[in-house]
Amino acid sequence: MKVAIAGAAGQIGRKTVTLLLDNGHEVRGLARKDEQLRDLEEAGAEGFRLDLEADGDERVREAVRGADAVIFTAGAGPGSGDARKETMDYGGAVKLIEACRSEGVRRYLIVSSMGYADPGGAGKMENYLLAKLKADVALQTSDLDYTIIRPGRLTDDEGTGRIDAAPQLGRYGEIPRADVAAVLLAALESENTVRRAFEVLSGETEIPDALSGL
Ligand SMILES: NC(=O)c1ccc[n+]([C@@H]2O[C@H](COP(=O)([O-])OP(=O)(O)OC[C@H]3O[C@@H](n4cnc5c(N)ncnc54)[C@H](OP(=O)(O)O)[C@@H]3O)[C@@H](O)[C@H]2O)c1
Repeated sequence: MKVAIAGAAGQIGRKTVTLLLDNGHEVRGLARKDEQLRDLEEAGAEGFRLDLEADGDERVREAVRGADAVIFTAGAGPGSGDARKETMDYGGAVKLIEACRSEGVRRYLIVSSMGYADPGGAGKMENYLLAKLKADVALQTSDLDYTIIRPGRLTDDEGTGRIDAAPQLGRYGEIPRADVAAVLLAALESENTVRRAFEVLSGETEIPDALSGL
């Protein structure tokens, strides 16, 4: 598949690019900075300069043109203020949704977050979780073939390839970014995850089995 990935130079993004390339997919890595674009090209991806907040709609459409699927794993990051939760975590995801709809790219996978169901109970995370929730709702109410992946707290531990996944897990916990990248790859290749939203944490079940059991 041809996959365009927003946040390609981020921590989950970079791991996902490697996995996609290793598994025979063509990757267009969307990123903002020269050195990130160079790294993506050196890895074997096409580097495409895109700022999801600053760039206009036509540039975003160009970024997804010809792709079979789009992955959104960009984010304003923990140091950002409320304004960028709105322009990036929500607005950036929506710009990409609209571009996919215009260009006929039906498949859209997004890295969302656990905790969205109760943003009011999340203290300092409230505005971030509200932005993620609004992006998820925009995607769920679109006509796209979406997959919404809601990980718990991300760690830099080595991936284990084993997760728990369910629409609601009823517990909170952690998951390595490497495993989220592996979930993105497996979800892309699994029809069973189309028009599905689910939480993921480190667990006991091999990723493909966990996804087919959703
Ligand atoms: N931290 C957690 O515990 C947690 C939990 C659940 C879900 N998540 C979600 O997981 C996803 C990825 O996490 P991560 O750890 O991989 O994040 P990360 O390393 O901060 O990567 C985010 C990427 O988004 C890019 N970005 C920021 N603003 C942009 C813009 N205007 N246009 C285009 N790209 C932009 C950043 O690029 P620059 O280098 O140019 O800034 C960066 O490469 C995010 O959606 C995050 O909300 C995080």
